[in-house]
Order: sequence, then structure tokens, then C-alpha cells
Amino acid sequence: MSLRPQNLSIKALKIKMPPPTPLAPVVAVLNMKGGVGKTTVSAHLMRHLFERLHKSTLLVDFDPQFNLSQTVLSRSRYESLRDKGTTVATIMEPMPSTSLFKITTNLGPPPDEDQVSTTLFRFGSSGKTLALVPGHFGLSKYSLITDQQSLTPIRQRFLNFIENSRKTRDLVCIDCNPSSSFMTLCALMASTHILIPVRPDRYSILGLQLLDQFISELAQLTKKPKLIILLNGMKLSNSTEIAVETSLRSDAKFGPMVLGNTLRFSGLLAADDNYVGFATDKKVAHVSALKTRLSKITDELKGHLGWQ
Ligand SMILES: Nc1ncnc2c1ncn2[C@@H]1O[C@H](COP(=O)(O)OP(=O)(O)OP(=O)(O)O)[C@@H](O)[C@H]1O
Ligand SMILES: [Mg+2]
Repeated sequence: MSLRPQNLSIKALKIKMPPPTPLAPVVAVLNMKGGVGKTTVSAHLMRHLFERLHKSTLLVDFDPQFNLSQTVLSRSRYESLRDKGTTVATIMEPMPSTSLFKITTNLGPPPDEDQVSTTLFRFGSSGKTLALVPGHFGLSKYSLITDQQSLTPIRQRFLNFIENSRKTRDLVCIDCNPSSSFMTLCALMASTHILIPVRPDRYSILGLQLLDQFISELAQLTKKPKLIILLNGMKLSNSTEIAVETSLRSDAKFGPMVLGNTLRFSGLLAADDNYVGFATDKKVAHVSALKTRLSKITDELKGHLGWQ
């Protein structure tokens, strides 16, 4: 005798599952050229985006120089986190790291996010946070190791970590270092989007061509990330910069990738050794103009990240 109620077919018994939540975008802030504003954009644009759009955001300081961490954390807070292993180095290899020239074998799964990140800001009681995985100088060892093949498991551990974060966060942002290296490859393979800050100088298009070629020729990249270009450090009424901007915007390939809004030069964003934290928290008159600009860029970026 059947135990199934007479009038219920198997089809009717099937539970309707909600559609799977899409994975968060991963934005690598990258340019092979140094000093173009990668760290400034990672810190200030992402903080502003967090406040404006309330997106739970994870910042990863992926530069051995760890300028992002130095910008937003006091020295004592950074050192205490580093001593507990709360840095990006623990994503790559478990603590303690063996030596500058040896890498750990039998890596195991990547750490949970709360083992390697520190919360910078919370949005009310929503549970949405802006958190940072602090950087670590020790990452420079990956550029010294000649047997790049031996680094494949480390790259995979990093990719697994980012993939896990995509399930719990709304956005992951990776502040990259300028040299093309093992770390650049890790960031490119992890990212869905590449945000490229560009200074309006005559070599900027050359740098973009190089990056674009690098990405298209990289065999490991099965899914190419989307490129987004942000002009940074523009000064009003500088004729050379205006000419560079015009030629970049009219470039058949790169023009459509350039955001309409630019991040202008701002004295608030210029390095200040005596200040730790976000420039937009400074109690000075120019902050509102900077925030307005960051809002415009954020709103434009929103569309590129599929949030409209
Ligand atoms: N829009 C801006 N207005 C004023 N100063 C800026 C602006 N953007 C960046 N800077 C300054 O330019 C310098 C380089 O910026 P930043 O460190 O962000 O570049 P980077 O690309 O991360 O450099 P690196 O390649 O060394 O990692 C810093 O002193 C920063 O304060
Ligand atoms: Mg930097």
C-alpha cells in the first residue's frame, strides 16, 4: 500500500527553492604603474561606497609595502594584529611562516575571514561592516622564489579564501602592488573587475595597453575580468592633462572603459604622515567637496558592479 496521499503528485511535493544568491564582485585595484592612486582609491572610494550603498565590504591589502594598512591603522594596532597572525600572510600560508625562502607544504584549507580581518566600521545594527585584511611585508618573498610552480598551492589557497568571502560579503576589494608578479596573477585570477586608476600623463595609454595585453595573453585566466578605468589626480585647467583625458576618452578600445567622473587632485588625499585614518573623516571644509566627488564615482561604479 502506498503511503503517499492520493491527490498529491511527486511534482506537487517538490519544495520551491529561492534562487541562489549571486556571488559578490571582486574588484582588484590594479595598474602596473606605481604611484597612480591604487591605495588611495582602495581606501577612500571603498569606504565611501560602504557608507553610501551599505555594502558589506572586505578590503584586502595585497601589497607587501602594506600602505593601505599604514593609512588606516595606527602602528600599534597594526603590530598587534600582525603578531596575532591577522594579516594577508595567513591567507597564503598558515602561521607561523617558516622562512623567507621556504614555503609551507600541506597548506590545508584557507583561514576563516574573522581570523585574518579586522573591522574598521559598522553600519548601525545591520551587521554590515567594512573590514580590512592587513598587509604583510613577508609577501615579498613570493617575488624572490624562483620556482613559481611551487607557489601554485598557495595561489589556490588565496583563491579559495576569496571565493569563500564572496559568499558572505557584498564586495571584495584587493589593493594590488604595482609590479607584475605572482601576486598580480593571484589578484587577476580572483577578480571579476579590475579598477585601474590612471594618472593623466602621456604614458598612461601605454600602460593600459600593456595591462590589457597581459590580461588577454594570460592562459590561466579562463574568465577575463571587466576593466574599468578611473582618471585620478586631475588638476583643473591643466592643458596637458585635458589633452590626455581627451585622447583616452576617444580611444576606440579604452574610451568606453573610462568612468565619466574623475577623482580630482585633492590636498586631503595627498599623503599626510601625521594622520592615520580616512581623509573624509578630517574635520575640514573641503571634505564635503571630496565626498560629493566620491559619491558620483560610487554611483557610476554601482552600474558596473551590477547593483542597479
Ligand atoms: N586624487 C589625489 N589627490 C591628491 N593626492 C593623491 C591623489 N591620489 C593619490 N594621491 C597621492 O599620491 C601618492 C600615491 O598614491 P597611492 O599610494 O594611492 O598610489 P599607489 O598606486 O597605491 O602606489 P604604489 O604603486 O606605490 O602602491 C600618495 O601620496 C597619495 O596620497
Ligand atoms: Mg599602493
